[in-house]
Amino acid sequence: MKYLAILGRQPEISIAELEATNFCTDIDRLGGTQKLAVKLEQKPLEFLQSLPDGKITLGVSDYSKNASPRAAKTEALKLKQILVRHSRSVRVVESKTAALSTATSLHNGLSGKNPRKIELINTDDGWYRTIGVQDIDAYTRRDQARPARDAKVGMLPPKLAQILINLCGPLPAGSRILDPFCGTGVILQEALLMGYTAYGTDLSERMIEYTRRNLKWFSDEHRDQRGAGAASPVTTGASVARSEENHFTVSTGDATKYQWDQPIDAVACEGYLGAPMSQIPTEIKLKEQKQECSSIILGFLKNLLPQIKKNTPVIIAAPAWLRENGQYERLNIIDEIENMGYNVKDISREGLLYHRDDQIVARDIIILRKK
Ligand SMILES: C[S@@+](CC[C@H](N)C(=O)[O-])C[C@H]1O[C@@H](n2cnc3c(N)ncnc32)[C@H](O)[C@@H]1O
Repeated sequence: MKYLAILGRQPEISIAELEATNFCTDIDRLGGTQKLAVKLEQKPLEFLQSLPDGKITLGVSDYSKNASPRAAKTEALKLKQILVRHSRSVRVVESKTAALSTATSLHNGLSGKNPRKIELINTDDGWYRTIGVQDIDAYTRRDQARPARDAKVGMLPPKLAQILINLCGPLPAGSRILDPFCGTGVILQEALLMGYTAYGTDLSERMIEYTRRNLKWFSDEHRDQRGAGAASPVTTGASVARSEENHFTVSTGDATKYQWDQPIDAVACEGYLGAPMSQIPTEIKLKEQKQECSSIILGFLKNLLPQIKKNTPVIIAAPAWLRENGQYERLNIIDEIENMGYNVKDISREGLLYHRDDQIVARDIIILRKK
């Protein structure tokens, strides 16, 4: 099987072709992938003719180098014409762009679940059919319907939380994921949804209270999705809420000193990002922020090291700040982290930045494993 993952936002779509047989094809876990498709083994017309009886809904997306809205539409109408001549009823999904947007594919049911609702994808490497579309509505709900939110600690998008968890590499179901800067608990909620056990700590008692409220809400909302043994409410009131049978634990604690309970199978976190900013910081402000953030992240990694086993993955979203030249300035901590006793994945030396256009504080994803 040859798969295609469509990543990023239009018009900056990038396409990854994957030969792997054992990679995750569950789009609801992937976070950064808009559409997943599988290579067609037949020609588009033959494939459509082989579909079960009944009306076909057809969308055609063109991601090839010479893509144009016109070419995609012409192809769809050509296919429809032939099918109609063979007595099949067809509705073509309209689009002003060469490729259907994620919302159009999703809202027309072209996510591969209905055998007669089809999105065909043209690439320079031939035709694919969509087998998964990112459920943008579910991500928005998980983000915006949470009862306890705080713009000041940053709003980690659930998609990015999933990406951070996935960067830990394959983990057995039920593995315990620690977020030592858990804030309002986005990473923990996504970890629960993905079938892991969640362990969160944060310096702020208020944040821990937010996480508790959010995880209680989340557990009630997603009781069925986690399968057997869905997470259920933690006890409230105590500063440490343990709910191991319910898959999560939260507690107040300074990440630079805290002694965590075992086991810790993986660490995924968004570290302290410094002060929220709406303007490009001055050199002096930037220096002060870099110092503060570096000291917390390095202090945390030093404290963590003796508490985790060799090879444990540690994924951190660290801050990087927009400069006047349009580039982001990152923390200079990679060498120190390596000398401390972590292997640093090469790509995080180059900078793996996640940000919206013109966002002042970007997230720089650092991928580590204990040596
Ligand atoms: C960028 S926020 C994380 C937001 C979080 N990802 C969420 O889902 O809301 C950083 C968090 O680090 C916490 N923090 C700052 N210094 C800390 C420390 N030394 N130890 C533990 N937590 C700390 C803050 O209270 C804040 O909640």
